[in-house]
Amino acid sequence: MAEMDPAGMALAANAYPIEDPEMIPAQRYYDEEFYRLECERLWPHVWQMACRLEMIPEPGDWIEYTNVGKSVLVVRTNDGVKAYENHCRHRGVPIAGGHGNDHGNCSKSGFICPFHGWRWNMDGENTFVYGKQLFSQDKLDPAELALKPVRVETWGGCAFINHDADAPSLRESLGPVADRLEAHGMSKVRSEWWFGTKLPANWKIAMEAFMEGYHVMMTHPQLQRGLPSLYNQRYGDDTGGIGATVDPNMSVRENIKAQIANMELLNAGMGGMIQAKEIEIARQFENVELPDNLEEAVPMWYGMVMDAVSKQLRERGEDVPDLIAVSQSDPVEAVEYLFPHYFLLPSLTSYASYRIRPLGPEECFFEIWSLTHYPEGQEPEVPMEPTVLPYDSQDFPMIPRQDYSNIPIQQKGLHSEGFEFMRLSKDREGLVSNYQRLIDGYIAGVEPSKLAAANQQLGGNFDGPIKDLGF
Ligand code: FES
Ligand SMILES: [Fe+2]
Repeated sequence: MAEMDPAGMALAANAYPIEDPEMIPAQRYYDEEFYRLECERLWPHVWQMACRLEMIPEPGDWIEYTNVGKSVLVVRTNDGVKAYENHCRHRGVPIAGGHGNDHGNCSKSGFICPFHGWRWNMDGENTFVYGKQLFSQDKLDPAELALKPVRVETWGGCAFINHDADAPSLRESLGPVADRLEAHGMSKVRSEWWFGTKLPANWKIAMEAFMEGYHVMMTHPQLQRGLPSLYNQRYGDDTGGIGATVDPNMSVRENIKAQIANMELLNAGMGGMIQAKEIEIARQFENVELPDNLEEAVPMWYGMVMDAVSKQLRERGEDVPDLIAVSQSDPVEAVEYLFPHYFLLPSLTSYASYRIRPLGPEECFFEIWSLTHYPEGQEPEVPMEPTVLPYDSQDFPMIPRQDYSNIPIQQKGLHSEGFEFMRLSKDREGLVSNYQRLIDGYIAGVEPSKLAAANQQLGGNFDGPIKDLGF
C-alpha cells in the first residue's frame, strides 16, 4: 500500500519488515524500493559521523561529507564547528568539494560558487552577489541567501551531522555508551592511518560482519588458534567446536606467551589497534612471577600490563586513561556500534574505527581508521583522505582482508532462489536483529524518543542477545 512521506512523495510501505526477530528477509539487502525507503526515512533522520575533528583544527578549515546524494560542508568557525548544506543559494551548484587543505581555508576568502561567483563566509552568511542590481532586491533577503545550516554535534573526536531538526540529540541517541567510550579516552586519540575501499555489497552486510565474534573461528582462524580459551567457551564447547581446542596442560608461562603472541597477531593483522608500544610494555611482564593456576594468573598478568601501559605511556606524554580504573567503571565491548554506520574496536589505549556508507543497494564505501594517542607536539600528519585500495588488495592488513573475503560473496548468496531469510543466533547475533529492527522503526515513522531509547540499547550489544526494542 502506498503512503505519502512528509515531502509528498509516494513511498511504498516496507515490503520486507522483520516479523520474527531471528529471521532477516534477504530482500532487505538488495531490493531497490527498500533501499529507497532507507534513503528517505532513515538517513535524513540519524546522526552520521561526518569527519574526525583533527581534520579541521583551525577556524576556516572545512571538509565535505557526502552520503546518499546529500553533501554537507563541515566547518570549524570561531564559535565551534558548524555545518551547511552544500548548495549555492543562486542556482544550486555545490559551492565546495573535498576539503580546505586542497582548496583553501575559508576564513579569509570564504566559499565562492564556481558558477557565478557568489560568496559566503565561514559562518554561512552571504558576503557577495555579483551584479546585485540585476536582481529584484526582495529576492536577496540575507536570511534567504545564507547557507542552510545542518545540525552538527561533536563528540568522541568526531563531528556528527543530522539533517532532521527534530531528532533527539546525539547524546540522547547514543546513551551511556558515549560516556563509557569517553572514559576510555576516545576524544583524545588521533588518526594514525585511514583506508577506504568499495565493496560490492549492501552497506548492512558490511556492517554485520562486525556485530558478532561468532565468525572468528572460521574467518580469522589465526586468532582462535592463538588463544582458543578466549573463544571456545563463548561460542562452542571444547569438544564439538571448530578450530583448535584448549590444551589442558598448558602452563601459566606458556599461556602468558600465548597472550603476548595474540597481541602481536592483532597488531600485525589490523596494522594497529594494539600498538607496538603497548606490546613492548607487555613484554616486560613475560617472566614475571605469577600464581600456578591460570584462573588467577591470567587476570593478574593483565592487570599488571594495563597498569604499566597507562603509567608508561603517560610518562611519555600521552594522555591515556587509567586502564584498570576504566575497565571497572566503564567496561566496553570488543566492538562498540554507534547506529547507523560507525563503530569502534577499542583495545588497550587505541582503537580501530569503521564507517560504512551506501553507494547503492548493492555497493558501499568502507573506511577504516587506526586511532591512537600521541604526546603533544608529536602528532603525525593528519590523513585528509582515505588511501583507497581494491577490496582484495594484499596491502590491507590480514584481518580486514579476511572480513572482506566473505562480504562480496555473501551478497551474491543472498540472491539464491531458495534463500529467504538469514537465521540469527538469538544469543550472539542479536545486534544484527536489533539494529535492523531499529531501521524498521525509522521506516515506519516510530516516535523519535522511542527510536532514541531503542538506539541506546545497542551500546554494549556486540555478540549479544536479541532485545525488545519497545516498539
Ligand atoms: S549558481 Fe552559484 S553563483 Fe550562480
Ligand atoms: Fe572479522
